[in-house]
Amino acid sequence: MIDARYVVRELQDMREEGHLSDALLRHSVRALYQADDRYNWVGVYLLTDDRLELWLHNYMGAPTEHAKIPVGQGVCGTAVAHGANQNVPDVSEFDGYLSCSPSVKSEMVVLIRAGGEIFGQFDIDSHQAEAFNEIDEAALQLIADKLAEQLARERR
Ligand code: SME
Repeated sequence: MIDARYVVRELQDMREEGHLSDALLRHSVRALYQADDRYNWVGVYLLTDDRLELWLHNYMGAPTEHAKIPVGQGVCGTAVAHGANQNVPDVSEFDGYLSCSPSVKSEMVVLIRAGGEIFGQFDIDSHQAEAFNEIDEAALQLIADKLAEQLARERR
């Protein structure tokens, strides 16, 4: 299980040392991937300025063909279109699911946002069915909110 408070502290330390969002996003993905055996693929997608597409920023796990995802498509694009995190216990039941690998059974998307603005999202795949719960979502949200602080600062 990820120690989200610890990661948030690391991210804050990195900010104070002057690191930018690029480094923070990469650090978060690595920390999440290494923290939990259920997290078999961890990536960050960022929303383009025109808010039409999600572009893969960085990931750990098997290579994926989904480098760009239109808003409204797949679990990732649905999260942005609805402005809501997604917990998909069985990906085979999700209408319009974009498959990365047949091994993936469940998926969670947590938005990276500040105020009304969505910057992007964490996307996590698991080879276990029903791998994710509210505790995962809360942990991911803590980390996402810290990243949003930095992304908002760089946007100004
Ligand atoms: N499954 C996602 C696509 C991205 S991959 O999981 C890396 C979706 O349906 O949006």
